[in-house]
Amino acid sequence: MIDSARLKQAFSRHFNGSASLFSAPGRINLIGEHTDYNDGFVFPGAIDLGISAMITPNGSKTVNLYAIDMDQSCSFDIESVTPPESVHFRYVFGVIREMIAAGIDVQGFDAVYGGDVPLGAGMSSSAALECCFAYALNDLFAQGRLDRMTLARIGQATEHKHIGVMCGIMDQFASMHGKAGSLLRLDCRSGEFSYFPWHPDGYRLVAINSCVKHELIGSPYNDRRASCHRVATLAGAETLRDCSRQTLELLRPQLSDEDYRRALYVIGEEQRVLAVCDALEKDDYEEVGRQMYLTHQGLKEDYEVSCDEIDFLVDQAREAGVSGSRIMGGGFGGCTINLVRNDIYDTFLEKVQQDYLSHFGIECKPIPIVISDGARRLQ
Ligand code: GLA
Repeated sequence: MIDSARLKQAFSRHFNGSASLFSAPGRINLIGEHTDYNDGFVFPGAIDLGISAMITPNGSKTVNLYAIDMDQSCSFDIESVTPPESVHFRYVFGVIREMIAAGIDVQGFDAVYGGDVPLGAGMSSSAALECCFAYALNDLFAQGRLDRMTLARIGQATEHKHIGVMCGIMDQFASMHGKAGSLLRLDCRSGEFSYFPWHPDGYRLVAINSCVKHELIGSPYNDRRASCHRVATLAGAETLRDCSRQTLELLRPQLSDEDYRRALYVIGEEQRVLAVCDALEKDDYEEVGRQMYLTHQGLKEDYEVSCDEIDFLVDQAREAGVSGSRIMGGGFGGCTINLVRNDIYDTFLEKVQQDYLSHFGIECKPIPIVISDGARRLQ
């Protein structure tokens, strides 16, 4: 998390008085990718990277924001329905609109914020930003009246209505509900979830940021979602959660090859999440890793959300004997998530960094994963 002394310094440079400190994390996801908006299961955990904000009500109707990482300011009226020009500030603007829509009497405030979740890396920097502000505004203007799931849904509604990304609930859910040392398994249909203590003896999780992002904002993600919806509708189901492999095969003659492959991936991924749960009960991390590689294959060949740089990182992992590796998050660049045996951890990371640099001329960045707590007030 960003150093709180830096935040305090920036706050006193831009505003007067004292302020409360809030923070919300990014996330990893062990398995269950693109299953959330299909009402399936996901397996995320919050991480020790996130967004922190110093916020204080200012007794007016104006919101004043300063984003440290971009060295940019923005002000707007609390009643304004015209979004700020900079997309970045629309996240906070959207959270405010959605909090007001949920009946919270949000008033003017001053805020300084910044963070250390890498942007566009598939670790949910935008969910961290939404959840940090949703949590803070709920604390400052509603005495914590809204529960964490409602706040997660406010973050999701911000993406849908103010950013144009029709995301599922996984990222905001994980950022709000994270617990140090535990992954979470969420049933995205019922909203039920459970904590899975994560202490894989002899293994470590590490993300590798490819430092490339090919996404053209929103649309490829929304296209995947539309494919899933078309297949589900044809199957007479609300979502692909209720469409079996057999049904998909029966429908195949009526589907485009693309829609067929998108649904094939999602239906397979549902099975893989359950297989990983079984494997975890037996502490069988080699099996967990095997399922991660299968997920990558599906995301690359059928869901088509990978790219050359990411495939290179996964291939290198496989060659080095890494137990599991796959693209993580929405796709089109970003990070891989890797389950690595302790004995090969250092040599793998050293080699993959060298090889990636000589192949693509860019540096990739390993990020050791520390499973941490969800959104909270720090001061
Ligand atoms: C993004 C979305 C999530 C989820 C993942 C893919 O991170 O925000 O809702 O769909 O992609 O699993």
